[in-house]
Amino acid sequence: MTSAAWNECQTHYQDVREAKIRDFFVEDPLRFEKFSVEAAGLLFDYSKQHVNVETIRRLTKLAESSQLSSAIRELFSGGRINTTENRPALHTALRDLSSASIMVDGVDVKPEIMDTLNRLERFVDQVRNKERCGATGKPITDVLCLGIGGSDLGPSMVCRALANYRITNIQLHFISNVDGQSLAHALKTLDPTSTLCVINSKTFTTIETLQNAGVVKGWFERHLGNDYAKKHLVGVTANPERARQFGIEDESLFPFWDFIGGRYSIWSSVGLPVALLLGMPQFKAFLTGAHAMDTHFADAPFYQNMPVLMGMIGIWNINFFQHTSQAIIPYEDSLEMFPSYLQQLEMESNGKRVSRTEGFVPHQTAPVLWGGVGCNSQHAYMQLLHQSDQVIPVDFIMGAQGDPDFSEHHKLLVASCLSQSKALMEGNQKRLASDELMDAKLCLGNRPSTTIMYQKLSPSVLGALIALYEHKVFVQGIVWGINSFDQWGVELGKQLAKGILGHLETQESEVELDGSTKGLIDYFQKNVP
Ligand code: F6P
Repeated sequence: MTSAAWNECQTHYQDVREAKIRDFFVEDPLRFEKFSVEAAGLLFDYSKQHVNVETIRRLTKLAESSQLSSAIRELFSGGRINTTENRPALHTALRDLSSASIMVDGVDVKPEIMDTLNRLERFVDQVRNKERCGATGKPITDVLCLGIGGSDLGPSMVCRALANYRITNIQLHFISNVDGQSLAHALKTLDPTSTLCVINSKTFTTIETLQNAGVVKGWFERHLGNDYAKKHLVGVTANPERARQFGIEDESLFPFWDFIGGRYSIWSSVGLPVALLLGMPQFKAFLTGAHAMDTHFADAPFYQNMPVLMGMIGIWNINFFQHTSQAIIPYEDSLEMFPSYLQQLEMESNGKRVSRTEGFVPHQTAPVLWGGVGCNSQHAYMQLLHQSDQVIPVDFIMGAQGDPDFSEHHKLLVASCLSQSKALMEGNQKRLASDELMDAKLCLGNRPSTTIMYQKLSPSVLGALIALYEHKVFVQGIVWGINSFDQWGVELGKQLAKGILGHLETQESEVELDGSTKGLIDYFQKNVP
């Protein structure tokens, strides 16, 4: 069953589906001014989307009728919006550096959040100032960061994105997968006496991370002895008991909380590698940028609210136009990992069909999200976006300022980005009228895109950008009627992995093998040295 507001959008879709985005600009010379918003250091231009004033009116009405306003209030105030796990989702509390309290079960959680941030600050200062050294007294030169999913994608993406802001020579190495070749390679290049290992795991039960952590712990023990090895291990977790059992000492244990989802954890102690690389003032600027977006999201009316507009336009594209894929193309090499980060954020949060209330939702949810940096994308997959039958909306992301010593480069980069969104929108029908190869060269255009611009990619701008996408995901989850904060589908794979490991190790397991899996296991057994 769809709501009246949903049906009104459906009717409106029938009216505008044949309209041309380029004609919207002819009809309204002020379209850019009307269909763009600025907040928290970001310019959000949605004028190249397939929407008019009436579309936005109906979409914001749909958001209102989905009780989005009260859901936003619940999100910020610690309501138990993660219904299947019966807990709040309070990542916004981590970036509110004010003294405002936030109550969970009658307890103000802010003092603990601020204490942890202060401990993190002392720790990163001590490592950088060489007050905290390796067990033999050598300063720390390398930090090996272990973790997977939200415990890796956040810190690795942000450290890559803000590498220009680094204030230390300490080298960071991220290992997420359980492919021993990567770990072997890292350990070969590292000196155990000057390496610190940060184990990021909310649950401290994730098999990939624990497998890697066990090997690294053994490596330290072989080189330094058991007691000294401990001095090189740091744990970031919401399960301190398991971390202690593993051998992490209390002074090296940084908590975060159950009410912080893994893919929303970069704002917590999980951001330790970022704080180490940039120093605490810039880590706080990163938090503050996200908080500025939070304030905008909480306060701005829906028709001027960047995350609301972004979420609702996504729904318009996915559920009405049936554009079920979404490309993310940053024109900034330092954002090369951003599409992967967003894959977890969007697809793990909203890739589900179970309704928050009962049964299943009657429509498509999260898009298949993918992408990579421009201009590289132009010489790889943009062909499909211009000329295939499939329409794939794009988010272009771009800074006005690049490297000051390479301003010609930057102009070319900006021109390339702008020409892609223009080409997607306008196509080339008119210009080719007399060309024999017209069919082969024909680009129909009318392909929607959004462009997000900012002055330059600073910690605060990156914070705002991530928070924008987090809230977009939240808006969509509320309107689709799903819980964006659980991930039960991932659990099935986790359980099976353990059972199949039993087949590989002892040929015994409770997991019943299908023909294909058995055939592949046989091949593995025959070929394993
Ligand atoms: O992939 C599933 C998941 O549970 C993610 O949500 C999480 O970010 C990741 O595994 C890692 O979990 P943990 O931080 O508990 O090791």
